[in-house]
Amino acid sequence: MSESRIHNAALRSKIMSADEAAALIRPGDNVGMSGFTGSGHPKDVPQALARRMAAANERGETFRIGLLTGASTAPELDGALFKANGVSMRLPYQSDPDGRSRINSGDSWYIDAHLSEVAQNTAWGHYGKLDVALIEIVAILEDGRLVPSTSVGNNPTWLEQADRVILEVNAGLNAKLEGMHDIYSIALPPNRQPIPITKPGDRIGEPYMRVDPAKVVAVVETNCPDRDTQFSAPDENSRLIAAHILDFLDYEVKKGHIPANLLPLQSGVGNVANAVMAGLNESAYENLTACTEVLQDGMLDMIRSGKLVCASATAISLSKEALADFNANLDIYRKRIILRPQEVSNHPEVVRRLGVITMNGMLEADIYGNVNSTHVLGSRMMNGLGGSGDFTRNAYLSIFMTPSMAKNGALSCIVPMVSHVDHTEHDVQVLVTEHGLADLRGLAPRQRAKLVIEKCADPKFRPALRDYLARAEKGANGQQTPHLLGEAFDWHLRALKGESM
Ligand code: COA
Repeated sequence: MSESRIHNAALRSKIMSADEAAALIRPGDNVGMSGFTGSGHPKDVPQALARRMAAANERGETFRIGLLTGASTAPELDGALFKANGVSMRLPYQSDPDGRSRINSGDSWYIDAHLSEVAQNTAWGHYGKLDVALIEIVAILEDGRLVPSTSVGNNPTWLEQADRVILEVNAGLNAKLEGMHDIYSIALPPNRQPIPITKPGDRIGEPYMRVDPAKVVAVVETNCPDRDTQFSAPDENSRLIAAHILDFLDYEVKKGHIPANLLPLQSGVGNVANAVMAGLNESAYENLTACTEVLQDGMLDMIRSGKLVCASATAISLSKEALADFNANLDIYRKRIILRPQEVSNHPEVVRRLGVITMNGMLEADIYGNVNSTHVLGSRMMNGLGGSGDFTRNAYLSIFMTPSMAKNGALSCIVPMVSHVDHTEHDVQVLVTEHGLADLRGLAPRQRAKLVIEKCADPKFRPALRDYLARAEKGANGQQTPHLLGEAFDWHLRALKGESM
């Protein structure tokens, strides 16, 4: 394998085992690892590191690191390190169950950051010194340039900022990924220049990452697939949500607000988002484009069917079946998919210029249009904000969607006041549940509240929401955004007691 994938002699001389490479990571290090939504993360060194951490724990010692990635990874990275209680600080996004419980128990600090901002924050030193970069790639060229794998994330920044670099060269991923990436770096102010992307398909950089070979302390050969991201078939609620969004987009096209092939699409993580893509794939739309962060099965289906002509993202996150198709047809997909650093794929400047239509999941929205994407009942972290803020605030059309109720109808996803705010009423334009769609554009808060209750709340919770609004309109200290402050969170307090909201 070393002959076929590691073509640079100097870096070939640094090949070692995962255990030997993990021994080069020290307690207290800040480690920037590759990985985004279960793809492109290092597979073997994190597990070797977790074994060292567990052994240290057994000796009564503490071995913890600060862990920075692109976004979520997989059990062999987040799962293994969090299980060993080896993560003192985590950023910017994760969705691992062990990680979630360490964060919520207070064992690990969690910095839930906008994904587009992590690179510049690292360069400015806001997260402290980056000691190590641990990056998965698919090959090393003779001149030392690196062929990125199934995600780019923050890798170019980690390679540039870290003192020591460990490379995992994964022969289990398709070498034909070469050429799919577009690596472009953005200078810090005051030297920043406009990012010259005017269409999702524009290529502005080069397909390879670069590293100072003197910083590379280890090269590890691996042979492992990415995480298999399973999507359930769209359920009734997801199909209804997708249908409301499609009707709305049809109307917007008829009104001349958006072109017949829409504007570039961004689709968030999860089953509902995937179902909306399935709906679009069955629609009459043609020549669609995407300016998104992660490409899931739904968008891959749309590329295969010819509906989606081009997608710009930072990662692919596919089920086993979709991955098999991706690998079999990489020559075609390489012409349609561009993987960029997340600093570029999610950049506010690009999103605003292209006029992206954003569609993201949420936990709850309030009657005035504020959205909580991250915190269950105010305090418990679910996953994180991800790129939803990068896209939403800068969107041409920002859409949030959720089933109207959670936990078998005990929780209403439409509440008087959200228990945590990720997206403010100023950024949220459209809310959708299985019951309907509320277009909040151009409406004042009290006008919005009526629409959100009547279109989006479940009929079971509508009377209580109407009653809250009516009493707030009488009893609040002002009529701009009336709230009963002593009562606004009663819904969440009931849920915390295990009662229906
Ligand atoms: N209160 C408490 N829990 C809630 C809830 C609410 N209002 N609404 C949903 N949930 C729970 C569900 O019960 C489910 O719990 P379970 O895993 O124990 O079954 C879980 O949240 C996920 O809900 P689901 O309806 O399956 O939605 P999803 O898969 O579409 O995910 C988010 C929804 C909000 C968790 C997900 O979209 C997310 O993490 N978003 C933030 C990041 C993001 O937007 N990234 C994309 C940017 S590019």
